[in-house]
Amino acid sequence: MIILMDKTKQILALIKPFVAQGKILPRGYQQIKSEEFIVLYDGQKPVACGGLRDCKIDCIAEIYAICVHQQYQHQGWAKRLLSELLKQAREAGFGRVFALSKYNSDWFFKQGFSKATLVDLPFARQQEFNKVRNSLIFFKNVN
Ligand SMILES: CC(C)(COP(=O)(O)OP(=O)(O)OC[C@H]1O[C@@H](n2cnc3c(N)ncnc32)[C@H](O)[C@@H]1OP(=O)(O)O)[C@@H](O)C(=O)NCCC(=O)NCCS
Repeated sequence: MIILMDKTKQILALIKPFVAQGKILPRGYQQIKSEEFIVLYDGQKPVACGGLRDCKIDCIAEIYAICVHQQYQHQGWAKRLLSELLKQAREAGFGRVFALSKYNSDWFFKQGFSKATLVDLPFARQQEFNKVRNSLIFFKNVN
């Protein structure tokens, strides 16, 4: 018998190893807004996830906590995930998305993101920006 975890637990399990590596920010069960997340499955196994958050200004959304299970990397899962997130962004009327990451710049460039600076972020997001972490900022038009 297969017992499926709820979506929040699936997301927590997917991000856990990357949180341990410092690649994704730690979040607790209550902090995960599962309705913002897309989870991709291999059969019933969750293998990739990513969130899309409305910044509530200028039709901009943030893509966050993108990750692919270690054993499923380099097989196109993140590309598929991004395309689902962009589809959702398009349908919700967003014009641009951004992501913050300290790692994987090359992956973001390959997916058509351009490097941006702190002032490009919505003002409220600039205020929340973790200057110690100092992630790189990547923007992409939704089209
Ligand atoms: C970055 C990450 C999401 C990529 O996932 P993935 O499923 O392996 O990526 P894909 O297979 O969809 O890759 C798509 C393309 O990017 C390339 N690619 C994959 N990882 C890459 C990387 N780290 N750097 C550069 N290119 C990369 C692939 O070769 C592929 O190229 P192609 O289209 O020419 O074949 C994955 O490595 C990951 O989960 N990393 C840890 C979490 C993380 O750092 N998230 C980002 C911060 S939120």
